[in-house]
Amino acid sequence: MCGIFAYLNYNATRERRYIVEVLFNGLRRLEYRGYDSSGISLDADPSHAPFRLSSGSLLPSPPPLVFRQEGKIENLVTTFYQEADVTDLDLQISFQSHVGIAHTRWATHGSPSPTNSHPQTSGEGNEFLVVHNGIITNHMVLKETLLRHGFHFESETDTEVIPKLAKFVYDSLNEDLASNGGEDKQTVPFTQVVMEVMRQLEGAYALIFKSPYYPNELVACKRGSPLLLGVKEAGDKRSDTYVEGDLLAKDHGKPKEYYLASDANAIVEHTKRVLVIEDNEVVHMKDGVVAIFKFEFDKSKRLLRPASVQRALSTLEMEVEQIKKGNFEHFMQKEIHEQPDSLTMTMRGRLIRGEQRVKGVLLGGLKDHLRTIRRSRRIIFIGCGTSYNAALASRPIIEELSGVPVTMEIASDLIDRQGPIYREDTAIFVSQSGETADTLQALEYARANGALCVGITNTVGSAIARGTHCGVHINAGCEIGVASTKAYTSQIAVIIMLALALGDDSISSQRRREAIIDDCFNLPSKVRDVLKLDQDMKELAMLLMEEQSLLVFGRGYNYATALECALKVKEVSLMHSEGILAGEMKHGPLALVDETLPIIVIATRDGSSSKQQSVIQQLKARKGRLIVMCTEGDAQSMCPDGTCRVIEVPQVQDCLQPIINIVPLQLLAYHLTVLRGFNVDQPRNLAKSVTTQ
Ligand code: F6R
Repeated sequence: MCGIFAYLNYNATRERRYIVEVLFNGLRRLEYRGYDSSGISLDADPSHAPFRLSSGSLLPSPPPLVFRQEGKIENLVTTFYQEADVTDLDLQISFQSHVGIAHTRWATHGSPSPTNSHPQTSGEGNEFLVVHNGIITNHMVLKETLLRHGFHFESETDTEVIPKLAKFVYDSLNEDLASNGGEDKQTVPFTQVVMEVMRQLEGAYALIFKSPYYPNELVACKRGSPLLLGVKEAGDKRSDTYVEGDLLAKDHGKPKEYYLASDANAIVEHTKRVLVIEDNEVVHMKDGVVAIFKFEFDKSKRLLRPASVQRALSTLEMEVEQIKKGNFEHFMQKEIHEQPDSLTMTMRGRLIRGEQRVKGVLLGGLKDHLRTIRRSRRIIFIGCGTSYNAALASRPIIEELSGVPVTMEIASDLIDRQGPIYREDTAIFVSQSGETADTLQALEYARANGALCVGITNTVGSAIARGTHCGVHINAGCEIGVASTKAYTSQIAVIIMLALALGDDSISSQRRREAIIDDCFNLPSKVRDVLKLDQDMKELAMLLMEEQSLLVFGRGYNYATALECALKVKEVSLMHSEGILAGEMKHGPLALVDETLPIIVIATRDGSSSKQQSVIQQLKARKGRLIVMCTEGDAQSMCPDGTCRVIEVPQVQDCLQPIINIVPLQLLAYHLTVLRGFNVDQPRNLAKSVTTQ
């Protein structure tokens, strides 16, 4: 959770107004990661230096300005411009170099409030300021120590220990230095302070530090949470024209602008030249030069000599348009309607049509591992929320085509139980963001137990993509709506392709596989067709908008569709909804049925549709208020007396049908939310990437 952002301009004269807007814009792009409070810190007018603290010590540059606000980013923007004294702030002032940091928060420790917002500070003079994404698990122990050393805490956050620890470390190192004959405080490098802080922190974090002791310098580091560096040099309008690999060139004079962010969305509009920062790396920006160090500790937590890192920049493969709403009202709506294209991207280059060769599937990232997966004792799918549902939807086809038993694990539950995982298992981690903390922890656990770990993610370079032995990217494009839609359908498409690849040594299933491949090619156009139900779904939403609850019955391939529909409805429209395995109806849920409670029954044609037909009859016998989703042309047979509302969808191969079926239900959730007046893209209490446990 949370998004962090920093902007540093070196030798590139910028007005404060511009700098402030870069920071606000960075936050707007990251807002989907957390939206209950936000904050920024800026350099104060340098002519006010040096600054004397009440302790008598002098700061070489004035204390950085800090603005923090509860609520959405726009609250921060409004209060900044309304309440900040613009003359004092002197928005016209230009800075040749300037360091700004920013944060958007999803509260974990302490309720949303300006005091609990970041940047968190060391205290008077803002000697050290920190923005943090992640969680510090030993913050209580650190806090006790710092309290004993006279520090006062004002927030309820875990983060506040970090700037205070930095101040403590800074003072201690300087005392050591002075007692060893050093005189100048600045001789303790900023990076040394940060590394010592990192040595003492436990948990997951990406951190950016700012300090008036180190004007125009920025230090960032990470362990567990994502961090990306963007580099833009003078004249670099289209940043992708740059040659890679010159990042560490000692070119001091050239104007440069640097960006640090939790993800690429906040960087792509400035530059496409980026570096993914890895765990235990510290990034130091000073005098226009970026240096990156990798450091390790020995068993007794002593810092080993940090090694300098030389890595080429990579080029972002995303366009600014992807992070804009275009003609749509909301990102969720845009992403639902993008599915014909996102599915095309997911399957592009991976399906063999079969004109010259046998029809098949190419999954480059897995080709060397298919044999091992086929020979596994068990395939275990691990994920959370929608990603779990995507795996559940595809489980039957993996079992059918690979013959390998498949079990399903919700990541947090696997960790809670410490469920058994063995060397002979293949553990497949499904995650849109690639950074979900529970899934990551399950990955560490599965790796430690010796399983082959496969990643299915939408985020190149994410922790799950890097931490698994092999994997497939779903290539669905950037998903910004907090409710996952296009990633869900692309995840299913990828797992079906995996099933096809696993089964491609079997002659007996060849015709079946070919039929699925044929329909994969048809999928984008069928999704386009089903999107035409948009208006019908809006009308259905109008009928349902005042309801308290909605049940969704599915089975077989579409049990996951029922769960996913209910998840979408509850998370965005805030209406209670429950996905129910239809086979379980008589074992409890039937008691809920009466003439008032709306129930969606998914009964598209497949191996279990006759059973769903009898579920419909039993529900009708209890006067159930039914909405039946069936295959085009089946309305009469599914509901002969015409008393149900019917959603007719195009037919595809059974294993692909969940991709078609979820689309109208996503639209239903979307319209319900708009009609009920809730925030579609930023549902209450949620955030896009759950990087805390
Ligand atoms: C629901 C939703 C969540 C995520 C879950 C896992 O719409 O988006 O349930 O699916 O938090 O996130 P990822 O896929 O990023 O691991």
